[in-house]
Amino acid sequence: MPEGHAHHHPHGSHGHGHRDFWDEQASSYDRRTAWIEDRWLASRRRWVCHRAHGATLEVGSGTGANIPFYPADVTLTVTDSSPAMLREARTRARVAGRAVTVVESDGHALPFGDATFDTVVATFVLCCVADERAVIAEMRRVLRPGGDLLLADHVVATSRPLRAIQRLVERVTARRHGEHFTRRPRALVEDAGLTVVAESRGRIGVLECVHARRPG
Ligand SMILES: C[S@@+](CC[C@H](N)C(=O)[O-])C[C@H]1O[C@@H](n2cnc3c(N)ncnc32)[C@H](O)[C@@H]1O
Repeated sequence: MPEGHAHHHPHGSHGHGHRDFWDEQASSYDRRTAWIEDRWLASRRRWVCHRAHGATLEVGSGTGANIPFYPADVTLTVTDSSPAMLREARTRARVAGRAVTVVESDGHALPFGDATFDTVVATFVLCCVADERAVIAEMRRVLRPGGDLLLADHVVATSRPLRAIQRLVERVTARRHGEHFTRRPRALVEDAGLTVVAESRGRIGVLECVHARRPG
């Protein structure tokens, strides 16, 4: 599918969302996040990606940090609303020697038919979208019955003082680039008609992985 044909979601006021922000971040993103990558994120990527199987869609792939973690027999399609992020993801796929289909699209309106994928993945994306319920509903729609939704994100903390800090930080980041620190996708996937089959939450509760399944 050609790039440059963005699927802008219908929430008119969001327009391009924060696409320009992410485009600007793309080329320096891996360098700036390297310090959290090994210490905190890599183990979550492993948890999520090792559960992927078959035709797999990644939503909001960013620079493609998950690509090296997928089992070799996964057929991978990655999407993001930022063309600059997708250029980085292409490079990552090439370096990893993996065939990856790259499609520019917004998570609120995925350009795929119902029940297309065996697995749908989103890591550190639902914190950044305008409407996380709508994106979860879209991911469920493109998942075949019996298919797996795999999520990792930073979520609202378990401790009250930390939650207060998250609320303060979010006041700035939500306005600046749409990033939220007080969300918890785990609480929404069941509302969306999915069943949680495995989960893992860090000690202070800020990092959470969820493996949910669309009932078959
Ligand atoms: C914090 S980065 C995480 C990237 C990657 N998933 C990872 O684990 O490193 C968030 C990504 O979500 C993308 N994004 C934000 N809003 C989106 C939307 N509505 N649809 C698709 N991608 C979106 C951004 O362009 C960015 O690449």
